[in-house]
Amino acid sequence: MEIVKTIKALNEKLFSARNSGKSIGLVPTMGALHAGHASLIRRSVSENDITVVSDFVNPTQFNDQNDLLRYPRTFEADCQLVEAIGADYIFYPSVEEMYPEADTRTFSYPPIDTVMEGPRRPGHFNGVCQIVSKLFYAVNPDRAYFGEKDFQQIAVIKAMVADLKIPVTICPCPIVREADGLALSSRNALLSADERNLAVNISKILFASKEFAHAHTVDETLAFVVDSINAHEGLEVEYYEIVDGDSLQKVSSWNDSESIVGCITVYCGQLPVRLIDNIRYK
Ligand code: PAF
Repeated sequence: MEIVKTIKALNEKLFSARNSGKSIGLVPTMGALHAGHASLIRRSVSENDITVVSDFVNPTQFNDQNDLLRYPRTFEADCQLVEAIGADYIFYPSVEEMYPEADTRTFSYPPIDTVMEGPRRPGHFNGVCQIVSKLFYAVNPDRAYFGEKDFQQIAVIKAMVADLKIPVTICPCPIVREADGLALSSRNALLSADERNLAVNISKILFASKEFAHAHTVDETLAFVVDSINAHEGLEVEYYEIVDGDSLQKVSSWNDSESIVGCITVYCGQLPVRLIDNIRYK
């Protein structure tokens, strides 16, 4: 496994692989790698000749500067994990390398990016599209792997790839959870032990809501999830939406779509830490 810090060096390394017809997988990350990332990297290694893991905390997708400052950074441990799984390169550029000048491009994919995270994190998806498009141009991967925990992010990236006609296959990968159900997230590292125990109620209640949904309406299920989570002191739901899995627009009946997903954001604990999760109803 090699550490590569510039786009030029990355291009040089990938040039012969690409010319000899080898397939390239990209796993974009912001570092602080955990078992969720490991599953994406493992899948890329098994499906491609070459795997590149990018490790870059992208400033343009943070609308809250405190969030950016306290984002966990664990590069040494990240390298060990990437090496152990057998990926070929970890791309670890500086901010100046990725943004030699301000990126003034704007990306807008309504209605996918105008719901849920969109209005609550202004500029977030624009920043995600800026960096992911730069990574796609730098690596030119055949496949790129993203975790379904960020359900809306995958929909936005698919829209961008279709819009810019980038020849890459987007591979969504299932959420990886702790044994008790908590969705793995780099942000979990910011939780105290007590907050960590509190946070597990989010997934527990989402799982329970699948059962609840069998005998209740969409509105009743929404209320069940929000009320049950808010009943725990230290947890506060920012939003819970039950949406069509493709358009991300709210459904009002379980018959509205063949693909229905509940997406949640919850503030947990003292800081507080903003946690997201989702559950598929059908
Ligand atoms: O999901 C993430 O970690 C980031 O949003 C991504 C896709 C690596 C872009 O910075």
